[in-house]
Amino acid sequence: MNNFEYISGSLFCEDVDLLAVANEYGTPAYVYSKDAIIKNAKSYVDSFTNSTSLACFAVKSLSNLSILKIINDSGCGFDIVSGGELQRVLSVGADPQKIIFSGVGKSKEEIKEAIKNKILSFNVESVSELYKIENIAKELDAIASISIRINPDIDSGGHDYITTGRKGDKFGISSTEDILSLCKHASSSSNLKLVGLACHIGSQIMSLDGYEKSANKVFELADKLLELGISLEFLDMGGGLGVSYEDENPPSPKELIALLENKFLERNERLILEPGRSISANTGVLLTKVEFIKENFLIVDAAMNDLLRPALYKAVHTISNLKGDQKNLKRWNVVGPVCESSDFLGKNVELEAVEGDILAIRNVGAYGFVMASNYNSRLRPCEILIDGDKTKIVRKRESMDDLLALERFTDD
Ligand code: LLP
Repeated sequence: MNNFEYISGSLFCEDVDLLAVANEYGTPAYVYSKDAIIKNAKSYVDSFTNSTSLACFAVKSLSNLSILKIINDSGCGFDIVSGGELQRVLSVGADPQKIIFSGVGKSKEEIKEAIKNKILSFNVESVSELYKIENIAKELDAIASISIRINPDIDSGGHDYITTGRKGDKFGISSTEDILSLCKHASSSSNLKLVGLACHIGSQIMSLDGYEKSANKVFELADKLLELGISLEFLDMGGGLGVSYEDENPPSPKELIALLENKFLERNERLILEPGRSISANTGVLLTKVEFIKENFLIVDAAMNDLLRPALYKAVHTISNLKGDQKNLKRWNVVGPVCESSDFLGKNVELEAVEGDILAIRNVGAYGFVMASNYNSRLRPCEILIDGDKTKIVRKRESMDDLLALERFTDD
């Protein structure tokens, strides 16, 4: 299932030659396949056998409005982590009853907006947060729906920076005693409605074991609550399913859902998931031009500010020349113009390339553009969506005016 393929020696996205896209819109440019986005969203939606199950797409992984709209139309809800993400999903017509609000540091304004919009649930990540939400709901004379995010103390494997479910990670609540007393408090509060339990153990997860274990922990707690006479509407098992960046073989959404729905058969709560990367990663590439060749360096016009994952996590992304017929392969370090040695996009990459060639950095749909910055006063790339043989700009390339718009001289 890949919408980026070579046709007669040129890399295409759906029916469009990516070289033509680079020539028309310039580089660096993020290019996404609409068909891949729909297929990936549907790989969750269509795998559910229980009509109450719901996949809430993790907006943080890819938040372009046009793409969120496609994901909304494919039947997903949304997992958000800020007021900004709330505005984005509301503006594409998301049903508030399909929005989950995660994150350890929700502000008063963000909580207010989410309560006013009657979202499905806040995933509460600390004791203080629960009381803060309750007070704000009281001020608004409203009832806030909440779930408690538990920290199940499970190591999901993978990069240290993206593991979230171990004791000592900042996410969720670890103490069973705290969880139970919060649940008791919430269910007797006139401004809170306890609707679920949630957990999310990490990202780029390559085995279903962690999901099995965290489901067992969540079930254990839900059973304790039942004994106290507290029943829940849903159990949210988070996101985190991995994807193949090189030749890894992660479980599919269908396998994850089969495992969990099977475990949920004996339960009355609905299943909720929060997938990000497994929907967005393989839908996008970053096009970049080789500006200079020096020793074993391909110096390209994209940099760590455009795609941070290699610099931050030493993440490996396949890099391909848009010209497919590669004979004189050499090993290159693909680096950008930013002035630091962590500014690399790939190391030891086997390619044939000459100055002026356009490269595609693959599988950058997730945590690609959304983590881009203006470091070195670089303008963030444009985003382009391909639909069959149609090419649409879904975010313009930034201009110097955009970059400087908020700055003032002290004597202005
Ligand atoms: N739910 C919560 C509460 C999360 O914190 C995350 C991701 C997700 C769902 C979605 O996880 P996914 O299905 O995408 O793995 N920037 C890093 C990844 C950070 C993930 C943060 N949380 C990267 O580029 O690898």
